[in-house]
Amino acid sequence: MKMPVYLDNNATTPIDPRVTEVMQPYFNEQFGNASSSSHAYGWNAKKAVKIAREQVAQLIGADSDEIIFTSGATESNNLAILGYLFNFLCPTKITEEVPHFITSAIEHKAVFEVGERLKEWGCEVTFLDPDSLGRISAEQVRAAIRPNTKLISIMWANNEIGTINPIEEISQICQEKGIPFHTDAAQAVGKVGLNVKEMGIDLLSLSAHKIYGPKGIGALYIKRKDPEIKITPFTVGGSQERGIRPGTLNVPGIVGLGMACQILQNEGSQEKERIKSMQSHLIKEVLAHCPGAQLNGHPTERLYNNISFSFSRVHPEDFALGLSGLAISSSSACSSNASAPSYVLKSIGLSDELALATIRIGLGRFTQQSDLDLALQKIIKMHSNIKHLEPNT
Ligand SMILES: Cc1ncc(COP(=O)(O)O)c(C=O)c1O
Repeated sequence: MKMPVYLDNNATTPIDPRVTEVMQPYFNEQFGNASSSSHAYGWNAKKAVKIAREQVAQLIGADSDEIIFTSGATESNNLAILGYLFNFLCPTKITEEVPHFITSAIEHKAVFEVGERLKEWGCEVTFLDPDSLGRISAEQVRAAIRPNTKLISIMWANNEIGTINPIEEISQICQEKGIPFHTDAAQAVGKVGLNVKEMGIDLLSLSAHKIYGPKGIGALYIKRKDPEIKITPFTVGGSQERGIRPGTLNVPGIVGLGMACQILQNEGSQEKERIKSMQSHLIKEVLAHCPGAQLNGHPTERLYNNISFSFSRVHPEDFALGLSGLAISSSSACSSNASAPSYVLKSIGLSDELALATIRIGLGRFTQQSDLDLALQKIIKMHSNIKHLEPNT
């Protein structure tokens, strides 16, 4: 079977062969448990985990003892938000006040649904609406703060439309008010200038499979001093990861995540220039050749690998057929119900019709100019061939 050209790097990225290579020994000869302290198998695994922890920490400007390995950004988000707010919700610690949590209406479900769950548990939750470009402003965050606000979580960059939030400004407000700040940086890590210490971030989630590493591994940064952020674990049963995330460590995955971070640290800026120029070219050409097409998200404050187009008066089915041969997303791959209009697109003001006639193109490290040429040619052809819907149908 001929595989389509892969242009869905916001859903997941292929593993960099250099990452697979360093992982390989930890499946076979170096299979030890990193917690085994009485023999070389354990010592070698432990050493590999230590190196990986340093590689992750270095990429985000943290200390290595502030990195907790998890199964990915979904778990990191849950652990950060529920683990922190549990300090105010646990029956034995219950305070007079109901805690208030601030997040946004365009978070990935791994934060959005945590907010919904907290509401069911009796927490006060504010979902801030983005502007029409998908941004949450620092002033909006400031205005939403209440005396009982205990945690704020705003995503660094959106997975569907690529908009980047003013994270440093939001973090500044949280610091002024003494409220811990979490950010879901699954799409942003390695693509934006990011230093948790300089930017005053308390909690940050990341995932390996968005940065050319393996699936099923990620990390949560938890600030350890000035002040220390206390997370109550929701799984118990071992002392791994300082007891915050117990369970035998996924050594090959951790080694792979470490290497993925190391590669970004070394090569991220050249990679950015190459992909950004492909992005600009594709956006310019599609908008020039497809009347009625619009770019969703912010024109400049956006991830350099994300392009989201909506096509007015286009039937989504014709449109999907015309683009066969391209592995792109016609709705968020992270969403389970692909035929419903995306809540992210709706929250920036798109009609159902326009939200359904939307594609997301995710460029990446292995995208070639020829892939881009093919995508452009197919989009333009699809757009000129399909029967456009009449206005108001
Ligand atoms: C912004 C964002 N957060 C969280 C996730 C979930 O990450 P993971 O697949 O590692 O659980 C994703 C991935 O789809 C994402 O794009």
